[in-house]
Amino acid sequence: MTNRQSAAIQYFQDNHQRFLDELVDISSIPSISTDPDANDAMQRSAEWVAAKLRELGMQKVSIFPTAQHPVVYGEWLGAGPNAPTALVYGHYDVQPAEPLELWESGPFEPTVRGEYIYARGVTDMKGQVAAFFNAVEAVQSTGDLPVNVKFLIEGEEEIGSPSLRQFILENKELLKCDFAVNPDTGMLAPDVPTITYALRGLAYFELRVYGPDHDLHSGVFGGAVHNPAQALCELIAGMHDEMGRVTLPGFYEAVRDLEKEERAELGRLPVTKETYLEQTGAPEIWGEEGYTAIERTGARPTLEVNGLLSGYTGPGAKTVLPAQAMAKISMRLVPDQDPEQVRQQFISYLKEKAPKTVRWEVDFHSGSPASISDLHSKEIQALGEAMETVWGKRPVFKREGGSVPVVALFSEILKIESVNTGFSTPADNMHSPNEKLHLPTWQRGTKALIHFIFNLGN
Ligand code: BES
Ligand code: MN
Repeated sequence: MTNRQSAAIQYFQDNHQRFLDELVDISSIPSISTDPDANDAMQRSAEWVAAKLRELGMQKVSIFPTAQHPVVYGEWLGAGPNAPTALVYGHYDVQPAEPLELWESGPFEPTVRGEYIYARGVTDMKGQVAAFFNAVEAVQSTGDLPVNVKFLIEGEEEIGSPSLRQFILENKELLKCDFAVNPDTGMLAPDVPTITYALRGLAYFELRVYGPDHDLHSGVFGGAVHNPAQALCELIAGMHDEMGRVTLPGFYEAVRDLEKEERAELGRLPVTKETYLEQTGAPEIWGEEGYTAIERTGARPTLEVNGLLSGYTGPGAKTVLPAQAMAKISMRLVPDQDPEQVRQQFISYLKEKAPKTVRWEVDFHSGSPASISDLHSKEIQALGEAMETVWGKRPVFKREGGSVPVVALFSEILKIESVNTGFSTPADNMHSPNEKLHLPTWQRGTKALIHFIFNLGN
């Protein structure tokens, strides 16, 4: 470790309480991108990010309006044309907090309990964005950054980044860089430094099934009219076969097979069936036959029902035959599936399988392809070494089952690779009540980012 590195680590430790206070600040803003009433919160979050970028000495800091939520940009190119330029990505939006009654403290009242801070967005990903800002500040306290940086922090990731393609296309010159850093992924566990080299894509739909033109008395009409709730469940039940495979026509055609060596590598990760049982509380694991849980979530495409709504769901009983039923259904995609093709496969399935007794409609919410990075790039090496400096062991390499649409967009439009990092863990309750961030891991992660920035300069 050089003197500058130790000084930056010392600076980080000396300022840790303030960094925590700032995380509390930004995590208090309910920036729920899918909420139509959150525009003011989105704007305030964008302004918070812009102010922070100015504090870090970034230039050209601007808040770009988009069709929905603004993109925040800032850059510092003082390391000169011979130094590499990193494009650092982040998102300031969060998932909805429902069900609210399950939170032990308010989702937007960040609260420290034990080794954790609790609030919606602390781990996904305000804490991760803050970690990068804090690492930059710590490095700057010892002198200029050894690399040029450009920040792109968006507000629509949790709804599938619908405005980002156009933003990147329109700002290709501004975003020009050598590689991207995406701190929106995580680690297998606090003591397992992890580098994510692949993310799944996503195709998200809303399916509505209509039957009679109004709700019916289930005794008067039950038996004579196909119940839309039942018809929807029949359609959904047919979307998997008894092997746990998805039955949409052609769904597996474009799927890139896992190579033997990669399966062996994934098999060595410290994750077993028991890990999943423990992390989820489910009575048994489930999935596509012939693949391990880590392969099923990381390297195989899947289909999930994300929401289901029909009929009477209030207290007590109501004998009704509902007029309609709705399901939110999404597919996680792997290389080389195309979300548009998956949309057509979904429609073909419905055309073939939907009975004449009901009408149906589908909305396509968002689509983004999967991504996979070169494990041997020098930037990934630089991150690996930085993690080793902090954790005292080599990182493991994993495929992430979740999605971050920007990675595929950067690779398609800017022709750059992304280094995926981030210090969340599967225990952090991402997208669920009591989302939390493990503070000791957050601190180690920030230290790793400090070393990463120095390593990039060498
Ligand atoms: N940070 C997550 C992705 C993620 C999840 C990384 C788990 C590492 C571990 C990201 O914010 C996210 O949740 N993305 C959405 C994207 C979608 C709406 C396009 C997702 O995966 O559901
Ligand atoms: Mn995220």
